[in-house]
Amino acid sequence: MDAVKQALHIGNAPQEPTPEQVSELKETYTSAGQSHVLSFYDSLSAAEKASLFKQLSAFDPAYINTIAAKALSPPKTESDDHGDAKLEPLPEKATASILDSSQDDIDKWYASGLDLIAAGKVAVVLMAGGQGTRLGSSDPKGCFDIGLPSQKSLFQIQAERIRRIEKLAADKAGVGAAIVVPWYVMTSGPTRKPTEDYFKKHDYFGLAAENVIIFEQGVLPCISNDGQILLESKAKVAVAPDGNGGIYNALVEARVLDDMKARGIEHIHAYCVDNCLVKVADPVFIGFAASLNVDIATKVVRKRNATESVGLILLKNGKPDVVEYSEIDKAVAEEKDPKQPDVLRFRAANIVNHYYSFRFLASIPQWAKNLGHHVARKKIPYVDLETGETVKPEKPNGIKLEQFVFDVFPMLDLAKFACMEVRREDEFSPLKNARGAGEDDADTSKRDIMLQGKRWAEAAGATVTGDSPEDGVEVSPLMSYGGEGLEGLSGKTVRAPAVIELENV
Ligand code: UD1
Repeated sequence: MDAVKQALHIGNAPQEPTPEQVSELKETYTSAGQSHVLSFYDSLSAAEKASLFKQLSAFDPAYINTIAAKALSPPKTESDDHGDAKLEPLPEKATASILDSSQDDIDKWYASGLDLIAAGKVAVVLMAGGQGTRLGSSDPKGCFDIGLPSQKSLFQIQAERIRRIEKLAADKAGVGAAIVVPWYVMTSGPTRKPTEDYFKKHDYFGLAAENVIIFEQGVLPCISNDGQILLESKAKVAVAPDGNGGIYNALVEARVLDDMKARGIEHIHAYCVDNCLVKVADPVFIGFAASLNVDIATKVVRKRNATESVGLILLKNGKPDVVEYSEIDKAVAEEKDPKQPDVLRFRAANIVNHYYSFRFLASIPQWAKNLGHHVARKKIPYVDLETGETVKPEKPNGIKLEQFVFDVFPMLDLAKFACMEVRREDEFSPLKNARGAGEDDADTSKRDIMLQGKRWAEAAGATVTGDSPEDGVEVSPLMSYGGEGLEGLSGKTVRAPAVIELENV
């Protein structure tokens, strides 16, 4: 169908397809048992016909049937035949903890990570294709103002951390020339345009536009409970982004890997947009993973309690894996550690900070097609094929198919996988809920940044006063990436809430 796709693109205005093209498409969908998607075709305008044709041509309905069937009844593994999959905490040899590593080790990882950044071998990939529905906002999550005194958004905070780490790397290497950490921002259909507009409007927050590469992940059709592709309108299939695991296909399709290769990138830090404490391109993490020569590493924090909405990093049937919170058995989540009865047995909470070697990402084309899909049951508005009316269902009527970014972990031997435990108060405060939820919302994000700044100011020798211990200090990421560079505060009194910017120290 590639030739057909090309034939239809004259500039940006697709032309109405020819009857031969339509009949070829009909044939493909009919043999997959999905011909209903063309039910209204003859009654559409020329532009609608062209756009539906274009949308349908992008999918292979036989492949959609296969992945939907697999996701709805996954093949049993050997161990499933003998009961449930075997879950165990990750063995100690695969993990390190910032909490009990020696300062020497941490300093060594930091220094080698900064050297790799200075050598231009480190890139960052941001997953920002989610729609933030739980947040109650239709803007991309990265644009969200969490209420800091500076009103900086999540995107701005992350951009400034990249600028600061580039500066720290340049200083260490003793080079005046700019060091670049390219930032690849994965968006989706709904978030791409507003994300691009936002970055342009803010002049890429001081980063060079050519080093902020915004790309788009794929979509998949939504499927009814009986396996039919759903129509959102007479001229449009209902689609949804293919999950954050769509990153792997997107890195290839959007030629991100080619760009990384051309730049000589060898180490990649990938993370989620909603964590205001994320240490973007963290040299300690990069240095740690590079020193072990692993293909994937991941950061974890200790799970808050059995019901926290976080995935768990563990061993499943002897392979590194994540069991997602939406899929975990309650009894497993609540199990206690036999050695420490007041601690959960499975407590390594996934904070979606992943390290990849470039050589691993370069192998995506060899396995991407085999990566499975997860099922999210949703209420999906659809067109009734008899009446042509839109129906808004009151209970879940279908599924969205999603890949998860960690679905690749089991492909690795334990020797090529590592896990680093980090401090929650320094590295994880996600924005998941609408304001007022009291947990993982904008107020807790703001609080955690301000309290971290307060700790940094005090460690630098400042006395922080204020009406409430909850009042903190916002330290600009342009001044400090992880508490360094604040010597100017020594002996000073800072009245919280305060903002520490380059010009006021
Ligand atoms: C995610 C993790 C979970 C972890 C938690 C920590 C996955 C599948 N789950 O859960 O294990 O403990 O974060 O906060 O990773 N995204 C896309 N494209 C999509 C869907 C999502 O880029 O199609 C991005 C979002 O923009 C976001 C990230 O992926 O940056 C996580 O998505 P979200 O749906 O918020 O994940 P959680 O359910 O919170």
